[in-house]
Amino acid sequence: MTPVLKILMVGDLFGKTGRELFARHIDAVREQYAIDATIVNGENSADGKGITPDIAAFFKKHNVAVVTTGNHVWDKKDIIPYMSESDFVLRPANYPDKCPGSGMTFFICKGYKVAVINVMGRLFMPVQLDCPVKKAQTLVEEAREQTPIILVDMHAETTYEKICLAYVLDGKVSAVVGTHTHVQTADAQILPEGTAYLTDLGMGGSLNSMIGATKEPLLHKFLTQMPVKHSPATDAPYVLSGAVITIAADTGKSLAIETVYIVDTEPLF
Ligand SMILES: [Fe+2]
Ligand SMILES: [Fe+2]
Repeated sequence: MTPVLKILMVGDLFGKTGRELFARHIDAVREQYAIDATIVNGENSADGKGITPDIAAFFKKHNVAVVTTGNHVWDKKDIIPYMSESDFVLRPANYPDKCPGSGMTFFICKGYKVAVINVMGRLFMPVQLDCPVKKAQTLVEEAREQTPIILVDMHAETTYEKICLAYVLDGKVSAVVGTHTHVQTADAQILPEGTAYLTDLGMGGSLNSMIGATKEPLLHKFLTQMPVKHSPATDAPYVLSGAVITIAADTGKSLAIETVYIVDTEPLF
């Protein structure tokens, strides 16, 4: 029988709410889906903006294999020296080469090497990076010299960029999943050549919010176009969402992708 790997990929965990929600549910999710490894997007895990070394340690303690990020990666300055020394937290690979950190890493899962690549889209994003497609293609070629099991987090605003990258990489990677919009999409599928795809994993955070943040300041900003400070919403109900990808370990092709969308009404705080 073909050995399979079951990888859980979780969307942007938003602030303490997202972290506590992850801690509350992760063991049950792992058991329910027989998960072999977990990858989370942590770009919002420190009060909605960025990630710190302590939070990286929190994810390690909870047996996360790799943390991906996005446009908020540099928001907490403490992570910059950390990322120069560790590739546990990735930054989008298509940032300029001078940036600290790495956009690709490997880990071992049930004896198989797994590559994780993080890239970021350019449409409607606050920073303009190198071409994510070219960068991903280069890294995928590099990774495939070591393993056919490759997971890509494409952190982008538009469906267009995410699905385009997925079709470019179809058959060459195990999965392309999107992050950044914090809203899970309903298009989980296996593309023709065996790559699992989902436009967005969603998030971990309060549903009584605007993509994880308190509503009032963001509504004020929307109505006045003035800058505001916002913070993670803390009240129930919450959502923790992501996807489980089942991969044939010998070929790296995906056999299935199933979304996870847990709504929790029990207050965390
Ligand atoms: Fe995010
Ligand atoms: Fe983002």
